[in-house]
Amino acid sequence: MSQTLELDTSFVKDGKLGEDRLTDEDFGKLAPRVSAILKEIADERAKGQHRFRELPYEGPQLDEIKKAVADYRDSTDNLVVLGIGGSALGNIALQTALNPLTYNLLSREQRNGPRLFVLDNVDPVYFESVMHVLEKDGWARTLVNVISKSGETAETSAQFLIARDRLIDRLGKKDARDRIVVTTDVARGTMRSIVDRQGYRSLEVPEGVGGRFSVLSAVGLFSAAMCGIDIDGLMAGATAMDERVKDPDPGTNPAAQIAMVHYLYDQRGKPIHVMMPYSQQLRDLADWHRQLWAESLGKTRTRDGRNVGPTPIKALGATDQHSQIQLYREGPNDKVITFLEVDEFDVQCPIPKAFPGIEAMAYLGRSDNGTLEGLLNTEKKATELALRKSKRPSLTIHFPRVDARMVGQFIYLYESVIPIMGKLYGIDPYDQPGVELGKQLTWFLMGRKDLEEMGIDVNALRQICS
Ligand code: PA5
Repeated sequence: MSQTLELDTSFVKDGKLGEDRLTDEDFGKLAPRVSAILKEIADERAKGQHRFRELPYEGPQLDEIKKAVADYRDSTDNLVVLGIGGSALGNIALQTALNPLTYNLLSREQRNGPRLFVLDNVDPVYFESVMHVLEKDGWARTLVNVISKSGETAETSAQFLIARDRLIDRLGKKDARDRIVVTTDVARGTMRSIVDRQGYRSLEVPEGVGGRFSVLSAVGLFSAAMCGIDIDGLMAGATAMDERVKDPDPGTNPAAQIAMVHYLYDQRGKPIHVMMPYSQQLRDLADWHRQLWAESLGKTRTRDGRNVGPTPIKALGATDQHSQIQLYREGPNDKVITFLEVDEFDVQCPIPKAFPGIEAMAYLGRSDNGTLEGLLNTEKKATELALRKSKRPSLTIHFPRVDARMVGQFIYLYESVIPIMGKLYGIDPYDQPGVELGKQLTWFLMGRKDLEEMGIDVNALRQICS
């Protein structure tokens, strides 16, 4: 069985797409520019930029995470992650992909670790429903992992204040302190100073690694390892993918290929990128990808003030065939679909042969593909063909199977696409200035008093609110 993800671009280049296909000539024209970009990225990386690329090689960090896991795993029945955006989406994606989908419903013996709750919203009903479980099970065997790189995020801070308060109330100050692990910036931010003052156990978000690129650091790996996920396998997968995306040839480098497809199509009026896994396990990787793509690439370009960036959308096969495909086939022809297809699933689920006299039932069990996995992959094929009939291009990423190595490869691959796209669009993929104003307005409306000290123009905020 193959040990690597495979990228299939045949339904991008297919003649049946007519004018909506990409030709060798299209790729050939863009290739010299992408070739120069790959060289530029390699040079910048050698000077310490694109810091996320080094995460799979950071042994000491991994040791620190494993040490924390060894210290907490046996004494923890419920692990609560408090974080949002890049401080939560990777944790959720790893858990969905690499643990049973019913993980939290299993008994402690059946699970590989504590139950996991990733609270990435401040909806009070959602929050209190998880608090209710912790209350019932007892806070003494609950561990709260607060994740915030900046240490300034209102949602995470509010959750931390409530969870800490409950811990202190139920366990007393000293024991409460022992049930909190903070993952934050090495040196900066409010959470770091709280850690220093209160003596909480902490893990580091490495310098220069932004939230949406941090899943392969303590941000994503601590909760994953606590729940028995093979983090060495994830890192081995990422390292293997690094070899492929270091390739200086845009014709064979998979990250360059993906970047070129989307850039070329965006230039031709297809700025929407739908990622559609045909796998429930991979569903939340599409969600993780949506943030990576949106926050990194949707920007106002400094050099000419143009607004650029393709729009990422997530969909799920086969579920969304009954929800989205009508739009994708007959709505505006402005989308490129990326399917994630699993070649070999962890289980086999044959469809029984029954009702021989009722063809609408009988064909399912009789078919050569008469299993749920056979049906799912057949539906993917059918959707791909139906889209081609409507001149809608698609890519496929083949997962030989879903395991830690493949997921590590996928994460590293899609992260590596981003700086290439950033250079094609002429933007900085590592900042997110568009998010700032909303954060500042929240602080202002919630009555935060140190905004001027932070260099924020409070009068401007007041005017926006008037
Ligand atoms: O990718 C990003 O930088 C953001 O999505 C952040 O992860 C998100 O805003 C949360 O920030 P922080 O980890 O600083 O609390």
